[in-house]
Amino acid sequence: MNHELSPMTCPVHLEDVDLFGEGAQEHWYEAYEILHRDEPVLRIEGGGLAPGSDAYVLTKHQDIITVVKDPERYRVVSTMRVGQLAEQGLTPDEAYAQTHSLMQASMVSLRPTQELYFQHRRELTDPWVGTGALRHRDMITRHVNELIDEWIDDGEVEFISRFARPLPQRVMASILGFPQEDIPRLAEWGDAAVTPFVHGTGLKHELTPEQAAEMNRRLDGFQDYIYEHVTAKRADPQDDMVSFLCDVHYEALDRKLSDIEIAGIVHAMILGGLETTQYALEEQAQLLCETPGTFDTLRTERTKLRAFVEETLRMRAPTHGLSTRMTTRDEVFQGVSVPAGSLLHMRFGAANVDEEEFACPFDLDLDRASIARHVTFSTGPRVCPGATLSRLEQQVAWGALLDRLDSIEYGAGNTWMHQPGIMLGTLELNLRFDAAADPLALGTGRSSHS
Ligand code: HEM
Repeated sequence: MNHELSPMTCPVHLEDVDLFGEGAQEHWYEAYEILHRDEPVLRIEGGGLAPGSDAYVLTKHQDIITVVKDPERYRVVSTMRVGQLAEQGLTPDEAYAQTHSLMQASMVSLRPTQELYFQHRRELTDPWVGTGALRHRDMITRHVNELIDEWIDDGEVEFISRFARPLPQRVMASILGFPQEDIPRLAEWGDAAVTPFVHGTGLKHELTPEQAAEMNRRLDGFQDYIYEHVTAKRADPQDDMVSFLCDVHYEALDRKLSDIEIAGIVHAMILGGLETTQYALEEQAQLLCETPGTFDTLRTERTKLRAFVEETLRMRAPTHGLSTRMTTRDEVFQGVSVPAGSLLHMRFGAANVDEEEFACPFDLDLDRASIARHVTFSTGPRVCPGATLSRLEQQVAWGALLDRLDSIEYGAGNTWMHQPGIMLGTLELNLRFDAAADPLALGTGRSSHS
């Protein structure tokens, strides 16, 4: 038997499993079943950060929850790096020169320690993309309906380029207070920013020096763009997140934010808030095509929409190999000894289909108990700060699509190829649909939102 995993070969045995090789994302879920059965804690020899140390891939729901809930015991790697830079006494500008990461640079002063996680969120991002996201419902609804207007009469649509991708872009530009005409530039910077997660190799998302240089070249101008807006909004504040960040008094440090600190937060919003929600919407459309009857059920029972969003986020997590942690002491997971100083690579997507936690994990079950206990957004202190916004975008999007379409099904010409990297999403999705004859007669109705 050939145990070499070719890019398009589906793993059958443990030896075939390769989560990081070219084309691996085509078979992640098959690999997770094998890992759960045979090796729920997978050792990657030499995969740790320090030379000679190992990495361990965690796939069990229970292990991942244990780890993410205790950031003192299991350190967030980027926070450790930020802490080291802060201890060296670097200013954010100096940190930026070293790391070329606006996000890390801004964290050097704003959140160098774990303790500041909650305050950073509560004071700086929650009012706009956390609890405060709920006030964006009307704005999101307007963008959703404008996008649908563009293709509702066509009977078919390439769903990613004409809906799932532009929606989070438009929403994020509106929240930040950037003009909609700038979206192509923001999208280009967003794409560049996720380069390591798309083109990086191995569990550390490593780029070649050429790829890193290319990424930095593509990010050129982003910082200046943000600074221009910061200057304009300091002079003439509007009702948007950048104006808010210019003005807010950050209680944790008892002062206002500097330009680079604001730029770091904006960068984080663009990095985290675009492709993730795009893939959630795209996989939801696929699951609707694959589970006949669900579209009709949701049309008549709108109260199930929340369950649909949660259950699909569980089944098709948009990010699979994003998060790592470092052990600070010797640990044992599933009977496997993991020494202090090991890198833990957490597979949120695998935890979500752990049979011990979710019965019949590959079934879309809108009546599942405690439906939101998946770890798609992680949990604990580092839970995704934009989770509320993303959930709202998905709920509003499907609410309007259910109002305005009678049915959807796969269209012609789909290749089903996933994009490379750690996110789960196809490169294109052609759908055919029937437009609803009387959208206003259904559900929440278009007019009530626009
Ligand atoms: C379906 C959509 C999304 C998914 C699946 C997702 C998932 C995640 C995950 C798994 C993490 C890492 C948590 C950890 O390491 O424990 C994270 C962090 C993050 N997410 Fe999201 N996210 C989504 C949408 C968003 C949105 C809409 C935003 C912005 C508005 C956002 C901004 C961020 C930021 C800034 C971080 C880093 C947080 C930190 O360093 O403390 N995400 N996200």
